[in-house]
Amino acid sequence: MTTRLKLPSSFVWGVSSAAFQVEGATGEDGRGASVWDTFTARPGVIRDGHTAEAACDHYHRYAEDVALMAGLGLTGYRFSIAWSRIQPDGHGPVNPKGVAFYDRLVDALLEHGIAPTPTLFHWDLPQALEDEGGWLNRDTAERFADYAEIMADALGDRVRRWITLNEPFVHTVWGYGTGQHAPGRALMFDCLPAAHHQLLGHGLAAARLTDADEVLLANNCTPVHAATESPEDRAAADAYDTLHNRLFLDPVLLGRYPDLSAYGVPDDLGGAVRPGDLEIISTPLSALGINYYNPSRMAAPTADLGLPFEEAPIDGVPKTAFGWPVVPDGLRELLVQLRQRYGTKLPPVYITENGCSVADEVVDGRVDDADRITYLDGHIRAIADAVGQGVDVRGYFTWTLTDNFEWAEGYHQRFGLVHVDHATQVRTPKASYAWYRDLIATQRG
Ligand code: GAL
Repeated sequence: MTTRLKLPSSFVWGVSSAAFQVEGATGEDGRGASVWDTFTARPGVIRDGHTAEAACDHYHRYAEDVALMAGLGLTGYRFSIAWSRIQPDGHGPVNPKGVAFYDRLVDALLEHGIAPTPTLFHWDLPQALEDEGGWLNRDTAERFADYAEIMADALGDRVRRWITLNEPFVHTVWGYGTGQHAPGRALMFDCLPAAHHQLLGHGLAAARLTDADEVLLANNCTPVHAATESPEDRAAADAYDTLHNRLFLDPVLLGRYPDLSAYGVPDDLGGAVRPGDLEIISTPLSALGINYYNPSRMAAPTADLGLPFEEAPIDGVPKTAFGWPVVPDGLRELLVQLRQRYGTKLPPVYITENGCSVADEVVDGRVDDADRITYLDGHIRAIADAVGQGVDVRGYFTWTLTDNFEWAEGYHQRFGLVHVDHATQVRTPKASYAWYRDLIATQRG
């Protein structure tokens, strides 16, 4: 992309990552176990039994990774803090060595003019808290706020933009609803107290981060289409939109949950919602993080799996190596739809994740990931289109810098701008790295 897109001059260009997926060093410097350590140790749950014990060894190689970010000309880095490095048991005393790691990382970023943008929770709950009920236990929300305050005290002099939670939808549904992710509980609709307690944790934590310039929540969102115009398929699409998008945005932006009674869910989400909670959850956000990968197409269920929808394929578009449909305009559509849905209640937006998995290989020292360049180019243009349609988008953090531990897929899906040989930890910037560097240079002028 050589022509300059119409984006604000202050637009933040970043990459995004998560502690468990990149850090490794899981047993070092007093880190406690997280639910993901426990889960990955279970036979059969992670493809080929991969674990994140080494991941990208970012814990030791962070300086090399920050140099790669500096080479891109980034102005922001979204990473997550492993709660169990800070409080190995999720409450109680602070582990100074854990704090020291993020201290070093933040300083290294600032030396290169990259704004640190930490996420406090990207799914790796301390196992000790899971043993007390995890996010099904209301108390976890209070513990989360305490941990947020610890981090604000430790880094708040240098960190100006915080993200409380990553994708409470995915964590609730896959972690507590279906069990494909840690902690591996399969409660179906009974998982919803975990959603409420995460959102409550978000609100309580945000109240402890008031000295910051910006506090975000990063939600995974998807525009939802009905497979056909039949009333049944349209009802299915509506149900999915409600569960995926509105359940995690309405309480935050409007101070109420959508009506889930048609699916047998009571207003208080199974006794979880108490008086005053929604006021805490809906404390105005300074910005909203949106993670977008693909749109969704839904049909009426054909089997009785207890769900009011069934996913329908999106044909006629390219697919990523993960099989996800590539629809860049879905991001424009989503942003415009959010603007229409929430009006002035929609705060400024950052795209906090967007990227694709490609079956990359190093050939003669090069990785020609043309598909990733096409994907990123299309999505960044879609953002510019949304901005042109009046949506206030302030930054873009692509997922991700280095190929990393892709949850239940282990190391099989490569999402990075930089190839990682997981046997040697050798990093090889891909063609998309050079492309993103040039785009940022053009945009920053
Ligand atoms: C997101 C998640 C990231 C990353 C990405 C790619 O849902 O927040 O951690 O794995 O998907 O699958």
